[in-house]
Amino acid sequence: MPDIRSAVLSAWEAAWDRGEVDRLDEVMTDDFVRESAASGSRTDLAGHKREILEVRAAFPDLTTTVEKLIIDGDDFAIFWSTTGTFTNDLGEVPATGTRVHTRGSNQGILRDGRIAFERVTWDQSEMLADLGVPSLRAAFDATADSIVDDLSGDFAREALKGFNRQFITGVTVVTTTDAEGRPRGLAANSYASVSLDPPLVLICVQKTSSTYPALFHSQHLGINILGTDQRDTLATFASRDPHKFASVQWHAGPKGSPLIDGSAASIEAEIKERFQAKTHTVFIARVIHADVGEAVPIVYKAGQFYDGASLTEL
Ligand SMILES: Cc1cc2nc3c(=O)[nH]c(=O)nc-3n(C[C@H](O)[C@H](O)[C@H](O)COP(=O)(O)O)c2cc1C
Repeated sequence: MPDIRSAVLSAWEAAWDRGEVDRLDEVMTDDFVRESAASGSRTDLAGHKREILEVRAAFPDLTTTVEKLIIDGDDFAIFWSTTGTFTNDLGEVPATGTRVHTRGSNQGILRDGRIAFERVTWDQSEMLADLGVPSLRAAFDATADSIVDDLSGDFAREALKGFNRQFITGVTVVTTTDAEGRPRGLAANSYASVSLDPPLVLICVQKTSSTYPALFHSQHLGINILGTDQRDTLATFASRDPHKFASVQWHAGPKGSPLIDGSAASIEAEIKERFQAKTHTVFIARVIHADVGEAVPIVYKAGQFYDGASLTEL
């Protein structure tokens, strides 16, 4: 009869590295409970076995290393790390083919020489970095250096400004609601249509914008193309006025994003990606609702605004 220490190590390796999950029966009680320290969610032994098999299906070459196993009376702690290639989709998360490394620790209680309970603390930051996903904190931090790509460069600022001044756009107001449900928004001309199928759009927002925290945490946003009668609205939303919506009429889109009445056109979209680009975040969003009005859009070029009705066709 092996001691509990070598039994745990052997069953752990069999289950995680070879998918022999029933070996866990040797070291876990029938009423075993596994709890996530992060979410508080709990699984029983059968659920835990299913989880291991799902993870192994996504990472078929998974290998685990037990860094340290401490057993002290009925208390135990195990420190582990795992490496594997993300080969097949895991639930709704598409496979990336990336080699991923993650680590964690389980702290628990033994009963009659078997594990009766364990609480798992799992550090996802290494894994997310391997997958190219920066941590939310770093993504949110305006001062954080680029985590994934080196975006530095010393191209002449004036030359790029000159290039941008030759580019003609419309002007939008990007909107959302904050944690208290209050409408928030800012003027933005960085709108671009990404694709029609799927219906994706992008908008690029500076992290120092007062609207940014609400936008970053939102699931949805509104984009309103301003018309020539909305010159005042444009000035309001290009400012940092904390009460921008006091002076405009608006209504909520299907998911609650503020849509400004009288706009040339408005959409509501579900935020799908938040790409970090140093000082700015590029939001990619899937359109779920569109209103196209009769108002003539404002035209913006090189810091000046023009009447979209008096364009001359080439
Ligand atoms: C024509 C125009 C286009 C703008 N485009 C953007 C943009 O694409 N992204 C951005 O972050 N700010 C853009 N701004 C600047 C913001 O509107 C401005 O910084 C505003 O004060 C932000 O308000 P907030 O800090 O209350 O969010 C633009 C301003 C103007 C006038």
